[in-house]
Amino acid sequence: MCDLLSECCGPYRRFVLGFCFGLAIIAAVAVIVVLLLGYGRVYHLRVAVDDASLTRFAVTSTAVSYNLTVSLVVRNPNWAMSVTYRSLEAAYLFDGHRFDSIAAVSSEYVQSARRTAVFRLSTGADAANASLGNAGAQEYLKEKDKGVFDVEVDLSGEVQYQRHRTWCKLEAKCPLKLQLPTPDGVAVVFEKTTCDVLRSSQRGC
Ligand SMILES: *[C@@H]1O[C@H](CO)[C@@H](O)[C@H](O)[C@H]1NC(C)=O
Ligand SMILES: *[C@@H]1O[C@H](CO)[C@@H](O)[C@H](O)[C@H]1NC(C)=O
Repeated sequence: MCDLLSECCGPYRRFVLGFCFGLAIIAAVAVIVVLLLGYGRVYHLRVAVDDASLTRFAVTSTAVSYNLTVSLVVRNPNWAMSVTYRSLEAAYLFDGHRFDSIAAVSSEYVQSARRTAVFRLSTGADAANASLGNAGAQEYLKEKDKGVFDVEVDLSGEVQYQRHRTWCKLEAKCPLKLQLPTPDGVAVVFEKTTCDVLRSSQRGC
């Protein structure tokens, strides 16, 4: 090809072609680097609870009656990859025992790159089944005296990062400190809580 060019086109033309060829190689390398950086490494979702309010909480050894709203904030830190959620469930635990759960995502949901999604969960029950036992009931009385309840929100779901085939398990734990509103109606301030996102042992997750 070069011989052909030199015969028909002279040195200047050859220089320009060579230059363009070089540029094309640099551009191709740049595209590959960008793809690798954007899609090669998965940055895990960041999860936090921005706001939560507990308006009723009563615990016995077998049941929990409660009303709770939780504002769950999930950030996708990846600058190129969107994330598809297949499911996301929040389970509520007191003293290590699960007393209720709610689906944050029930049908497929896509979160764009760099976006933050807010899931507002609102649940309550007159008597949610829970096998808390005497220890749980005791713990409730103790925390009631203090006025602060330790309720844990455990998240579990399945997500898929763009251009990745694996459905990754997403698991996070959010230890919340909740207070009931005071009888005189003074607003309770909730302190934003960062959730602990568990490491996945799956490859590429
Ligand atoms: C709790 O929620 C129920 C509905 O699920 C409602 O009837 C009740 O008034 C609520 N209680 C409080 C204290 O917010
Ligand atoms: C709670 O448990 C009892 C007996 O174990 C069962 O009959 C009832 O349906 C359960 N309630 C809920 C809401 O799961």
